[in-house]
Amino acid sequence: MKKLIIVSVLATTLLSTLLSARYISTFKGQKEYLKKCRACHDGSTVFVVKYPQEFWKKMMANNGEKLIQTHKNLDKNMVEKEQNIDMIHEYFASKRYKKKYKYLNAFLMRYAKDGRKSPTTGR
Ligand code: HEC
Repeated sequence: MKKLIIVSVLATTLLSTLLSARYISTFKGQKEYLKKCRACHDGSTVFVVKYPQEFWKKMMANNGEKLIQTHKNLDKNMVEKEQNIDMIHEYFASKRYKKKYKYLNAFLMRYAKDGRKSPTTGR
């Protein structure tokens, strides 16, 4: 009996740790998206859900090499506010980006068109 209690307490602790780690990481990623991406793209429920996980995986491979490349030569007349271009260039070169990358990635995967949390699949 005692063993069973210990095992179930351990299992619960482990499970809630895992769950909160996942929750926090997507939450942090969403916050980052809202701060850094939303200025030019729409809100996450409009933009992120447009693409399937496969697309985001390619974008985010090698620390987001393709994502960074896509934004490297942005033309001023492609965006509404010019200062956002400087912001995103600085951002991709920053330590902050390196630190937030994993959260952003987790968030994008989860909210992708076919992701677990996608508003379009409703799962
Ligand atoms: C300065 C404004 C700006 C910011 C900030 C910005 N983007 Fe972009 N992004 C663009 C523009 C402009 C394009 C090119 C759109 C096109 O070619 O039609 C683009 C293209 C993309 C694409 C390729 C798919 C597409 O719709 O063309 C993805 C994915 C993307 N951005 C994701 C992000 C993410 C994630 C962030 C935040 C880390 C971000 N962007 C921040 C302006 C921005």
